[in-house]
Amino acid sequence: MTKIAVAKGDGIGPEIMDAVLTIFNAAKVPLGYEFVDMGKWVFDKGYSNGMTPEAQQTIESLGILFKGPMETPKGKGVKSVNVTARKTWNTYANNRTFQTLHGVDTVFSKAGIPIDITIVRENIEDTYGGVEHMLTQDVALSRRFITRPGSMQVIRYAFEMARKKGARRITCGHKANIMKITDGLFLEVFYEVAKDYPDLKADDVIVDDLCMKLVSRPDLFDVVVLTNLQGDIVSDLCAGLVGGLGFAPSANIGDHISIFEAVHGTAPDIAGKNIANPTALLLSGFALLRHLGLREEAAMMENALLYTLESGQHTGDFGDKSTPSLNTTDFARVIISNFGKQPVHNPKPIIANQEVTPTIFKLSRNPMLESKETEHAHIVGVDMFIESNEQPGIVAEKCLQHTSDLFKLVTISNRGTQVWPKGSSFTNLVNQYTCRFESVANEPVTQTDILELYKRLTRDFKICSTELLNAWGDKKAYSLAQGQ
Ligand code: NAI
Repeated sequence: MTKIAVAKGDGIGPEIMDAVLTIFNAAKVPLGYEFVDMGKWVFDKGYSNGMTPEAQQTIESLGILFKGPMETPKGKGVKSVNVTARKTWNTYANNRTFQTLHGVDTVFSKAGIPIDITIVRENIEDTYGGVEHMLTQDVALSRRFITRPGSMQVIRYAFEMARKKGARRITCGHKANIMKITDGLFLEVFYEVAKDYPDLKADDVIVDDLCMKLVSRPDLFDVVVLTNLQGDIVSDLCAGLVGGLGFAPSANIGDHISIFEAVHGTAPDIAGKNIANPTALLLSGFALLRHLGLREEAAMMENALLYTLESGQHTGDFGDKSTPSLNTTDFARVIISNFGKQPVHNPKPIIANQEVTPTIFKLSRNPMLESKETEHAHIVGVDMFIESNEQPGIVAEKCLQHTSDLFKLVTISNRGTQVWPKGSSFTNLVNQYTCRFESVANEPVTQTDILELYKRLTRDFKICSTELLNAWGDKKAYSLAQGQ
């Protein structure tokens, strides 16, 4: 029997996990459960990553974690255990499926517009690296990582999943019109992977336009893949389309370890009252079972859930307010009593199991994800992030004193807007400039040359950060300042 790790979580976590496992046990799901210690009380015991070493070992050896929501202690400088788990185990794809559920009234269900959207969100990179610094008293900087291999992993997963799901369309949501390098890379990889899937209609939509289209015609979308932050926002938007967070399941898929959980949090306002809605966690459990090839049990229980919802039974957070709501335990009991019943709308076909054992292998080294270098890389300059509250002309004058035969000062920008050599006195300034030095005639320079320039500039400025300007062949690997 396949064993999985289970962490009940905080707040409503234990209540909804108990309800889900009661339903699983009643359906005789052939899984064994190893309960692990993760969450707030583990933080409080002094484990700074929110899990005990035993929990980590169990999860790494079983490969599947089914988890309830977990609270991140506020203001203690600790990072979210949910994010730590996703990142540590490289669950690079976050799959969230949003479907019309009959019995859960929404604007769209009332209008007869069916929804079946799967959002695949990149789960590791982007601003979620949390690499942030104050450059000056006034200026905070967050680094946004988008990588080719990371994008490749999640986008390939999205295409594979779309094909298996029988989707017709796969859409990349992005903001490559503004973030030409980061989102541009994600979009480039999307179309590169698309070439291997000619059976799927691949297209892209700018994320703001995507939000507008999702709330007006959600039925036009099938699978949507996005970077981390944009995916986070768009998937909550989609949760709203189908009735809210109580109906939003989530699967964090990796090559070795996968994590299944509800999208919602610990709901501290209703914790301990046995009134929480277990549907989102139950739907996440069905995704887990299907991931393990237990399709028959998943379909049977999902039909019982859909039947229950159709028959108007509900917990307090949704449904007809004129009919009494059920508590968490009774809602689970009703679902069990509906085993074997077929919903009128979208019944799930009962497909034979094809048991898949999680691929677990011990890794003795961290895998290095690296794509082949196709062009010769060289350094052609440097962006110096300096602190100054002087006017752009004065900053330029000082910088120009320190350029040598090797470097020319090309542009100075403030918050990404060029303020020298051209600019407008209407541009508001903050006390941090980015001074771009490029090599004369674009000849390659060395890191030592840059260090020399750095040293000279320190005579006039505090340098808060630097960024090398790379070129691959003739192609500049950095963005231009606004107005440059
Ligand atoms: P939340 O999702 O816990 O609650 C938002 C609202 O939705 C509340 O009114 C709550 O009562 C309601 N709600 C959520 N789930 C429900 C359910 N199953 N049934 C009925 N009502 C439900 O979001 P909030 O308040 O922002 O976060 C609370 C805590 O949860 C925080 O510590 C946060 O860090 C954590 N959190 C954990 C997540 C995870 O473990 N994956 C995800 C999101 C938040």
